[in-house]
Amino acid sequence: MALKELCPVLQFADLGDDRGKLVVIEGGQAIPFDIKRVFYIYESDSTVVRGQHANRDSEFVLINVVGQSKVRITDGKEEFVVELNKPMMGVYIPKMIWKDMYDFSADSVLLVLASTHYDGKEYIRDYDEYLKIMRENK
Ligand code: TYD
Repeated sequence: MALKELCPVLQFADLGDDRGKLVVIEGGQAIPFDIKRVFYIYESDSTVVRGQHANRDSEFVLINVVGQSKVRITDGKEEFVVELNKPMMGVYIPKMIWKDMYDFSADSVLLVLASTHYDGKEYIRDYDEYLKIMRENK
C-alpha cells in the first residue's frame, strides 16, 4: 500500500453551531484505535524539529488544535509532508513509520492521541537503525 494510504489525513465532523465549533474524536470510530494516552506539544517554534522517531508498538493521530505545524512522514522509501493547520483535521501514523514534526507556528498546540501507554523502549530514534530494520523486514 502506498505510504499516503497507510497514513491518511483524517477529517473530523464539525458538531458546531452558532455557539462555536465542537469536534469529537472517539477511539475506534473517528480514529482506528482505542486511545490510551493523550499528550500535547506547545511552545515549540520554527527552529525546532521534534519527533524524529518510529514506534514499534504505538499508533498515533496528530492534530493541531491551535496554530499549525508540519509532519514529515516516511517509511524509508516514500516520504510526504502534511501541513496540520485546522482543528478538524488530523493525520494517522501507524506503527513503524518515521515522523518529524517541524515548522511550528508560535501559537501551535499539537495534540497527539496514542494507542499505548508510554514505553521509551519501543521508540527507534536512530534513523540508520530504522532503515536497517525496514530493509530486513521487507
Ligand atoms: P519525545 O519523545 O522526545 O517527544 P517528541 O517525540 O514529541 O518530540 O519526549 C520528550 C520527553 O518526554 C522524553 O524524555 C520522553 C518523555 N515522554 C514521556 O514520558 N511520556 C510520553 O508520553 C511522551 C510522548 C514523552
